[in-house]
Amino acid sequence: MAGGAVRKRLELERMMGADVLFRKRGPAQGRPGADEALRELEEEVRGCRRCRLQQDRTQTVFARGDPHAELMFVGEAPGAEEDRQGVPFVGPAGKLLDKMIFAMGLRPEDVYVTNIIKSRPPGNRDPLADEIEACFPFLERQIDLVQPRIIVTLGRPASNALLGASGSMGDVRGRWRFYRGIPLMPTYHSAYLLRSPGQKAKAWEDLKKVVIALREGPPEPAGLF
Ligand code: URA
Repeated sequence: MAGGAVRKRLELERMMGADVLFRKRGPAQGRPGADEALRELEEEVRGCRRCRLQQDRTQTVFARGDPHAELMFVGEAPGAEEDRQGVPFVGPAGKLLDKMIFAMGLRPEDVYVTNIIKSRPPGNRDPLADEIEACFPFLERQIDLVQPRIIVTLGRPASNALLGASGSMGDVRGRWRFYRGIPLMPTYHSAYLLRSPGQKAKAWEDLKKVVIALREGPPEPAGLF
């Protein structure tokens, strides 16, 4: 663990006691048949021709981590390294995301990581609205199969896509929202944090709320009254 992650881990231990590692969900707790269904979905994504991004990609990028995870991270789109390896968050932003995960007392293999877009936009440009729309049903099905207890969205495109909103990250981050009844915490993208390290403290505040929710139970969607 890197120095910053160790400090954050110690902060967590002070806050919550020494036992801050979370249990993994066993296969019995996921949607029945989820592993097979996710493999089939990945295959479907591999052959997808729904948008122009199929032209320039090396390969599609589906997900990494535990398909029975309690916690799902949703990023934006694969970058150059992800396009090369076919795995999300393996470049510099992924290295920082892993440090954030370790700081939460988890390991990268305990969580499920994916993107709203499964093919790299050329030159790492922002995904276009029609590309997000074309790819979104794949993410919906991933969420439905993994059934995470909590979703963390990284950055504005992922947060807005899942919340159907159009706010800035400054507006939406750090407050619990819900996607189809699943508690969702929007926070800054790790790529943004690499460019703006001064914002890391805010992202850490958001992630601590997630740690507490994983341990003590996530918030309930507001009732009618
Ligand atoms: N940024 C993302 O949003 N996703 C990746 O997979 C890599 C970088």
